[in-house]
Amino acid sequence: MAACSVGLLTRVPLCAQGRGQVHRPICRLLSCPGTVAADLKREEQPSGNVGTGSEDSVLQKRFSEVQKERREEAQRTVLISCPNKISEKKFLKYLSQHGPINNHFFYESFGLHAVVEFRQKGSVASLQDAACTPSLGTEAAVPFRSRFFSVKLKNPSTSEKSSVQRSSQSPPSSKKLFELLCYAESIDDQLNTLLKASQVTEENAKLRQLTCSLIEDIAAAYFPYCTVRPFGSSVNSFGKLGCDLDMFLDLDETERLNAQKTSENFRMEFQVKNVPSERIATQKILSVIGECLDHFGPGCVGVQKILNARCPLVRFSHQASGFQCDLTTNNRIALKSSELLYIYGALDSRVRALVFSIRCWARAHSLTSSIPGAWITNFSLTMMVIFFLQRRSPPILPTLDSLKTLAAAEDKCVIEGHNCTFTSDLNRIKPSGNTETLELLLKEFFEYFGNFAFNKNSINIRQGREQNKPDSSPLHIQNPFETSLNVSKNVNQSQMQKFVDLARESAWILQQEDKDRPSPSSNQPWGLAALLLPSVSNSRSLAKKKGKKPASERIKNLLDSIKSNNTENSINTSGKRTISTQA
Ligand code: GTP
Ligand code: MG
Repeated sequence: MAACSVGLLTRVPLCAQGRGQVHRPICRLLSCPGTVAADLKREEQPSGNVGTGSEDSVLQKRFSEVQKERREEAQRTVLISCPNKISEKKFLKYLSQHGPINNHFFYESFGLHAVVEFRQKGSVASLQDAACTPSLGTEAAVPFRSRFFSVKLKNPSTSEKSSVQRSSQSPPSSKKLFELLCYAESIDDQLNTLLKASQVTEENAKLRQLTCSLIEDIAAAYFPYCTVRPFGSSVNSFGKLGCDLDMFLDLDETERLNAQKTSENFRMEFQVKNVPSERIATQKILSVIGECLDHFGPGCVGVQKILNARCPLVRFSHQASGFQCDLTTNNRIALKSSELLYIYGALDSRVRALVFSIRCWARAHSLTSSIPGAWITNFSLTMMVIFFLQRRSPPILPTLDSLKTLAAAEDKCVIEGHNCTFTSDLNRIKPSGNTETLELLLKEFFEYFGNFAFNKNSINIRQGREQNKPDSSPLHIQNPFETSLNVSKNVNQSQMQKFVDLARESAWILQQEDKDRPSPSSNQPWGLAALLLPSVSNSRSLAKKKGKKPASERIKNLLDSIKSNNTENSINTSGKRTISTQA
């Protein structure tokens, strides 16, 4: 792998904190490598610049700046399917004929692929001019001039060794993760380790943006001024390697260009076809894009048009990048949500570490699922963590209303009548004086939500306080922008109860561990690792029926058995710890 610096990573070794040590005062530096860490530019703040937090001496990049840079970078980038035995040096030398290369990396997804970023956009056009449509023998090729190529060796040398290093695009296996967690030095260290091991990397972020850019090239056949923008966990800093790629087709650019062309007494308008509603327009647009991806999109397979959903979408696999993609249109509010989460994630190094651990915990206990249903979503869990951090004393995160009061004139944003205004400038937000450790926060999170009055209260990050629920849904999390909506409307009572039971159980496990914790070097599941073990409350009702011991006693026995039978434990392929001594 060349280039791709992940700049700031070694500056604040929070991971090195010893067990029980107090968290350092917050300076917003991220403790672990990754997209946001690399995205937040750190420069000396010129004196007299805006910034309420005087202890901050750095400027942090705005979400829109980061996205703009990534998009521009992706437009100079190509994706190349390579033969397995390729000489990196010769390959780069060959490509350099078309112009200087900024950086590149290789990865595996249905074969070896290279992502090559040229310094200039013209190099891409030059490479396209040099490429040809393959002749396929019995099959016929649909000629399509894209930025996704295949490189073939005219004279494959059998002696050529595959010398390229592959960058991993997948999260660590559960076995590996367990090992990492067991060897960590403290619970704080465990949470940071989990974040570091599973977050979207710099290269993965580049690949995500490149995939959007390639899809944009296809959509541009119909809508030349469209933009395909990533949103959701691919860009909000809470993305885990392997998460889906949410993207939306933004046609507003066309509107903006039209407005610019308007002059004086004359206003030129395009002749267009009218349809009865915005929704039907969206369905029609997505329908043709879906067809186009299916018939002509290189690497796009399994295209499904899900047009009758509340938010119509086209779902497909982009085989070459390995991403499961959801393409929607007119999703500006979701992009604004992504920006808001990006801000929250960047404000304090503990936020992402806690969110990743809670998401991992929820996944390990099947509280979340990749299949839509009555489960809590990752988005809802993130809202719960943000709310919890707003409720600390002093608060770790500001409310959305206070971010609104910090907004500058250019931040004013109203989408479909919803006020989505908040500051986009991280440097305007005063850092929190709260110094609680991640260990404490994890424990308190479980206690807080294990005892939350879900039956009557709603979670609301706009005001950062509990409110009466407006309806009887088991879990009510107010949508931060469309405030009459509940983002967790899908969650049913039994899933809610399961969440509460597991939260209580986890709080209990951590409390017990305070009293009797195995040594960090003992390679036994402890702390966060112990929380990822199969729960006993899942089988509580079954146990009751069978007259088994109460859950708390069984947890204690379970933990004892883990400690004494560690060598017999194994991790199965579904990521769950199986314990041979378990009743
Ligand atoms: P992953 O599970 O890692 O994919 O997290 P995600 O945040 O990307 O969630 P998902 O793919 O389900 O949704 C993508 C984005 O759509 C989210 O980040 C939100 O911005 C938005 N979103 C998802 N669910 C809801 C919802 O129920 N209400 C609203 N308003 N937005 C949602
Ligand atoms: Mg997603």
